[in-house]
Amino acid sequence: MAFEIKRIGIIGAGQMGNGIAHVCALAGYDVVLNDISPDRIRAGLATINGNMVRQVAKGLYDEDEKQRALSRISGADSYTGLDDADLVIEAAVEKEEVKRRIFSEVCPHLKPEAILATNTSSISITRLASTTDRPERFIGIHFMNPVPLMQLVELVRGIATEDETFDSSKEFVTRIGKTYAVSEDFPAFMVNRILLPMINEAIYTLYEGVGSVDAIDTAMRLGANHPMGPLQLADFIGLDTCLSIMQVLHEGLADSKYRPCPLLVKYVEAGWLGRKTQRGFYDYRGEKPVPTR
Ligand SMILES: NC(=O)c1ccc[n+]([C@@H]2O[C@H](COP(=O)([O-])OP(=O)(O)OC[C@H]3O[C@@H](n4cnc5c(N)ncnc54)[C@H](O)[C@@H]3O)[C@@H](O)[C@H]2O)c1
Repeated sequence: MAFEIKRIGIIGAGQMGNGIAHVCALAGYDVVLNDISPDRIRAGLATINGNMVRQVAKGLYDEDEKQRALSRISGADSYTGLDDADLVIEAAVEKEEVKRRIFSEVCPHLKPEAILATNTSSISITRLASTTDRPERFIGIHFMNPVPLMQLVELVRGIATEDETFDSSKEFVTRIGKTYAVSEDFPAFMVNRILLPMINEAIYTLYEGVGSVDAIDTAMRLGANHPMGPLQLADFIGLDTCLSIMQVLHEGLADSKYRPCPLLVKYVEAGWLGRKTQRGFYDYRGEKPVPTR
């Protein structure tokens, strides 16, 4: 038995939150997009508009459909805007204390029957659920980046997640045209458990001087047939997010093979977080990305 979802609240209007809003609005859901400031919400809405303009130019849908989708999205800089949402998806930064604070502040505003989901890349769903007033209506709905392009969504039940929450989430993922893969609640789930150690190893390869940024990315594109190199992908994901995931793997699985590369730590400490700050393993401030090492 699934619960009917009509209105969706999204917490965090960054690269994942605005992508989730984008696909939900195109699928006909009403969407409320929340972030810590009106500026961040405006930036998120501008990104959605720009991405939809590109999709219209590619002939994926027409201008009318784009306008209808955009009109379904509204911004809210406080949690009161989420009080009539049926499903709220948290897509704020990958820091457990931030997510815990968000859940404790948002829960009193939600309808008792609302489903609360997190887009966390790595943190335990069971542990996050226990900080809410509704562990049975809490679930991991893990989108891939960039959301409008990527087909997969991982669904992760916590120990208390009830069947109705799980069934409603499956129905939601199907309605937005994505495919789900069900993962058990283990650190970093499936995709990132496999992908991030590869990225971390690419950073070690750079750190140890085995190859340059360009050589490593070229090697993996042409030698392993990956659509983009691991360092380019790391910049795309966000180096802070990469580091958080490696820390969760390292602590959660207590295995030294997941030790984050010191060079990744250094880049994050420098504030070189990848594309979102214009600098990571590549410098994006000029016309073309330039390798930083
Ligand atoms: N980047 C990826 O490739 C990727 C892929 C899948 C999942 N995720 C997960 O999605 C989440 C968001 O990642 P992102 O890449 O969009 O990060 P991001 O830095 O682009 O965006 C995060 C947004 O959250 C906002 N935020 C912070 N605290 C908030 C609060 N208290 N209330 C409301 N908004 C708040 C920030 O202002 C920012 O706009 C993380 O949990 C991340 O692990 C990321």
